[in-house]
Amino acid sequence: MAEKPRIAIFISGSGTNMAALLYASLLDNSHYQVVLVASNIPDAAGLEIARAEGVETFVHSHKGHSREAHDAAMEAALIGAETEYLVLAGYMRILSDEFVRRWEGRILNIHPSLLPKYKGLDTFARAIAAGDSHAGASVHVVTPELDAGEVLAQARVTIRGSETPGSLAERVKYAEHQLYPRAVADYVSARKAS
Ligand code: GRF
Repeated sequence: MAEKPRIAIFISGSGTNMAALLYASLLDNSHYQVVLVASNIPDAAGLEIARAEGVETFVHSHKGHSREAHDAAMEAALIGAETEYLVLAGYMRILSDEFVRRWEGRILNIHPSLLPKYKGLDTFARAIAAGDSHAGASVHVVTPELDAGEVLAQARVTIRGSETPGSLAERVKYAEHQLYPRAVADYVSARKAS
């Protein structure tokens, strides 16, 4: 059987989406393999999850480095791991335009809103304040413009009467864990077939 597409995941925090992506990849019928988990935060909790599964990790703090220098270090790790696709999962750094262009069509992100609504931060509070009936998450292709690339898949979550940004964030996170592995698998499979 041909090797599965090789994905790397960048994280900055708890890494629950990374864990969902990683665990899904360990099933026989998965459509990708996780070859690297990298972070700009040395003690990002998700790194331990990756190590526990025997996945290579890489850490490079952004502190004291220019965006270009930091991106270059992260990119060297991607290349070293023979990465085909970069999947951002709570990576709290904006990648330089040059980096994004070099990896055009090969970087995916998950954003906690129903794009094109609520790009940027505080998406849950903004959705509640607007009186929206639903919030959700979107998987999109990363382009130099923030949260603006093609939307590949979305999950919708009902906003309840008593909702707080915190309670909504929790339920959207569960929806993300279902959505992201499927969206990544569909994307890399479609590109492989074309
Ligand atoms: C997710 O809500 C995702 O939408 C956003 O960052 C969060 C990452 O959470 N981009 P986790 O680290 O995967 O738990």
